[in-house]
Amino acid sequence: MPATPPADMLVLARTMMSRAYAPYSRFKVGAVLRAADGALYGGCNVENAAYPQGWCAEASAIAAMVGAGRRRIVEAMVIGAGRALVTPCGGCRQKLREFAGDELPIHICGPRGLRQTVTLGSLLPLSFGPHNLGRTRKP
Ligand code: THU
Repeated sequence: MPATPPADMLVLARTMMSRAYAPYSRFKVGAVLRAADGALYGGCNVENAAYPQGWCAEASAIAAMVGAGRRRIVEAMVIGAGRALVTPCGGCRQKLREFAGDELPIHICGPRGLRQTVTLGSLLPLSFGPHNLGRTRKP
């Protein structure tokens, strides 16, 4: 296990995970994003009785960040329980890609702390992104 997780992110990630609304899967997830100015934005998964209407922790965190006027993610963290690493789902990889590049570090955590740090590029290689539509990365 890597030695030093970003402590400020881990504290918020644990809080977000504890607040997840996951009565159906019972699988609580927390996500934290660090914006370019250093500010942190957290989110949790929010499930729904109409299952497909639920959404992921990463989507909540992105909404919080964009709603606060930030558009550039420089560091991310996801936390969840279980044996397998809780990496962002496919849809969330693409959502993160909208506001970050291949180099984005994503800290994958479990209840006991940091388990592994990966990059967005390793999770979503050869991604389709804003550049495909002629957008430069100016927040
Ligand atoms: N979940 C997330 O919040 N983020 C992910 O990247 C993976 C899955 C949530 C969605 C659902 O509420 C629960 O985990 C089980 O799939």
